[in-house]
Amino acid sequence: MGKAVALALANEGVNVAVTGRNAENLKSTAEEIKALGVNSAYAVFSMDNESEVKTGIESLAKQLGSVDILINNAGIGDFGSIEDMPSETWEQVIRTNLFGVYYAAKAVYPFLKANGEGDIVNVASTAGLKGGPNMSAYAASKAAVVSLSQSMMAEWRKQNIRVITLTPSTIASDMSIQGGLTDGNPDKVLQPEDFAEWVRDILKMNRRALIANGSIFSTNP
Ligand SMILES: NC(=O)c1ccc[n+]([C@@H]2O[C@H](COP(=O)([O-])OP(=O)(O)OC[C@H]3O[C@@H](n4cnc5c(N)ncnc54)[C@H](OP(=O)(O)O)[C@@H]3O)[C@@H](O)[C@H]2O)c1
Repeated sequence: MGKAVALALANEGVNVAVTGRNAENLKSTAEEIKALGVNSAYAVFSMDNESEVKTGIESLAKQLGSVDILINNAGIGDFGSIEDMPSETWEQVIRTNLFGVYYAAKAVYPFLKANGEGDIVNVASTAGLKGGPNMSAYAASKAAVVSLSQSMMAEWRKQNIRVITLTPSTIASDMSIQGGLTDGNPDKVLQPEDFAEWVRDILKMNRRALIANGSIFSTNP
């Protein structure tokens, strides 16, 4: 999903940096982005490590000139019952999905504040709107992202920063297909490109308009 958004924004002429833990994937995605005629860069860091997140984002801002938009999309989906899931796994989901969103937004905020405007898209999930069996860690992390993101929106809109909280339902991706959540059938199930179009269109709205919250579903999966 992150790559689809990166390519959609690059197609609009946006210089896009990508981040993650896998240097090879990032390098090849950055090459794909550059082939669209914009500048790109990448940084390898883990979202659960605040100092790595901060250093990585500052280095990307230097390489690309500044930061205007943060797509806070990185996340992990680990599923299992409360009884069976080891506490370490449960905690790692919260550290990545919740703390990561917080660390990245906190690292980007000074740039947006200095620019006098900017956009932050926090990717939560419909799982954050209602818990269910075998998803306690994931659902709790995403519920917390919804709440964190709403607080961010309330605090930062005064600086002309639009904080957008998205709660997508299942989208065909490595996470959802490997996790057995969907077969990813492109005739029926949301694809990363649909998500990317949605994010692009939200960001393209006149800056006076802020889509504060939004959900997207497959019509008839
Ligand atoms: N697919 C769905 O059905 C669905 C529905 C609702 C919401 N979402 C949310 O949408 C976002 C993207 O999901 P996806 O389906 O595209 O998942 P995915 O295919 O598993 O991709 C997850 C991305 O997050 C990065 N990532 C994971 N852990 C990281 C860490 N510790 N540090 C840095 N980067 C990390 C991965 O990069 P590296 O491997 O390089 O680290 C990868 O780029 C997630 O937040 C997910 O919860 C997904």
